[in-house]
Amino acid sequence: MDKLRLNLLLTAEEIASIVKNLADQISRDYVERELILVCILRGAFMFLSDLIRYLRISVKVDFVRLASYGAGTKTSGLVEITKDIETPIEGKDVLIIEDIVDSGRTLQFLKERLELSHPRSVKICTLLNKKSRREVEIEADYVGKEIENVFVVGYGIDFNESYRNLPEIYYVMPSEQEKEKG
Ligand code: IMP
Ligand code: MG
Repeated sequence: MDKLRLNLLLTAEEIASIVKNLADQISRDYVERELILVCILRGAFMFLSDLIRYLRISVKVDFVRLASYGAGTKTSGLVEITKDIETPIEGKDVLIIEDIVDSGRTLQFLKERLELSHPRSVKICTLLNKKSRREVEIEADYVGKEIENVFVVGYGIDFNESYRNLPEIYYVMPSEQEKEKG
């Protein structure tokens, strides 16, 4: 069963203002550059689609899908690419678009992997950041909002593939989450 008790964390209006703010910063920093956005599927798809509408610079978009071993809500150290980007990035400015940075392992893996193709730069933009959860040394260059150690859903972000469609972001009590995992 996928029925959790949800507590509102960010309204759609609050999210829109966070996303617009990020887009303004990015538009300023990458003016007259050729930026390639690499969106991590699936969680960041809604964030990306809103973000690009606010960008006032020329961008290309590509997608990557990563799988991390280990079930449930905990990322293990091992990450694998299940869908790679198709755009050549050599000599280009790349900005990774992520929903949440948690342990940091997913982004550490992806950043190192992209750097093998010799892009001009690789930076990270995340909507949410759980800084207190970091297990490896990696920081996002653009952070929409710092959050506590809570599990969140909505606005593209899932729990067992559900709740992605919600326009707001909610947090789930840890006890609820455990109950669901059984
Ligand atoms: P990391 O490798 O531990 O940083 O894990 C990052 C990934 O874990 C994110 O891309 C999310 O897909 C997932 N994740 C982390 N925290 C949450 C959460 O609160 N809700 C849903 N997914 C999460
Ligand atoms: Mg993700």
